[in-house]
Amino acid sequence: MRILSGIQPSGALHLGNYFAMMKRMIDYQENHELFCFIVNYHALTSVFEGPLLRKQTFEAICDFMALGIDPEKSYFYAQSDIPEVTELTWILSNVTPLGLLERGHSFKDKKAKGIPANHGLFAYPVLMAADILLYGAEKIPVGKDQKQHVEMTRDIAIRFNQTYGDTFVIPEPEIPKEIANIPGIDGQKMSKSYGNTIDIFSEKHELKKKVMSIVTDSTPVEEPKNPKTCNLFAIYSLFLDKEGKKELTERYIKPGLRYGDVKKELVEVIWNYFEPFRDKREYYLKHKDDVHDIMKMGAQKARGVAVKYLTKTRHKVGLDY
Ligand code: TRP
Repeated sequence: MRILSGIQPSGALHLGNYFAMMKRMIDYQENHELFCFIVNYHALTSVFEGPLLRKQTFEAICDFMALGIDPEKSYFYAQSDIPEVTELTWILSNVTPLGLLERGHSFKDKKAKGIPANHGLFAYPVLMAADILLYGAEKIPVGKDQKQHVEMTRDIAIRFNQTYGDTFVIPEPEIPKEIANIPGIDGQKMSKSYGNTIDIFSEKHELKKKVMSIVTDSTPVEEPKNPKTCNLFAIYSLFLDKEGKKELTERYIKPGLRYGDVKKELVEVIWNYFEPFRDKREYYLKHKDDVHDIMKMGAQKARGVAVKYLTKTRHKVGLDY
């Protein structure tokens, strides 16, 4: 199966990014054809400082490779290295009804918050549709917040196919239930914009500070605790298998558990989990030329597929006079 997803180069990676998205992709590359890319064209809709975007894009690439994306096995690339995607965006724009884009949650939200909207933000879903359709991707692993975007991609693809004949694969979003909502330290969805993240490559004292400030309820020590409503439990669970979750549940429902002890334990669990990736990340950050060579290869591989789809599309719409 052909699986594809992109990630925003939006600064320090947190547990939400990792478990909702990166880890799933990294696991997929074992048995599937994986397309994984850094969406720096999309980032232009919200980052207006060149040096910052450059730095964040490079870091996101290093993060992905450190965490286990294998550019030999998979298609791993920067969106901006694939010029075909912008051409397809333009072609798709012409089968995208205005109303579809006006209903876009993220556009509506941003507008409601008074963030000045530009055309890029409005057209964001068309670029995302191009990202997906350009490679004939079948399954799109995303977070809940991106479900609508994948549905818009489907609408655009269906409309194109109806207008010009069968051209694009209609993709499906994939949103696993258990990790659809990873809570942050305050219990809301973990998100950089809420300032409630636990970053995975921060210094240990910083990690400790974050974990110790996970909000818990005020059940007294001597009373049983409720794992179902506890953020700390939800975050800890990300690192546990079924057996581990059962054990932690038992500790919760037995009187005497101190949240503080669980938090201290969790600091170590998180630190140790990411330990093997830290050195690799440092290596890539210091070896820019190596990273650029790898990305060049990734772009070449991806463009091999992209050009095929784009050529077919150009022909369908009649641009190949
Ligand atoms: N919009 C996605 C996000 O913000 C990123 C993205 C861009 C994407 N293109 C994509 C995700 C294609 C999946 C497939 O998270």
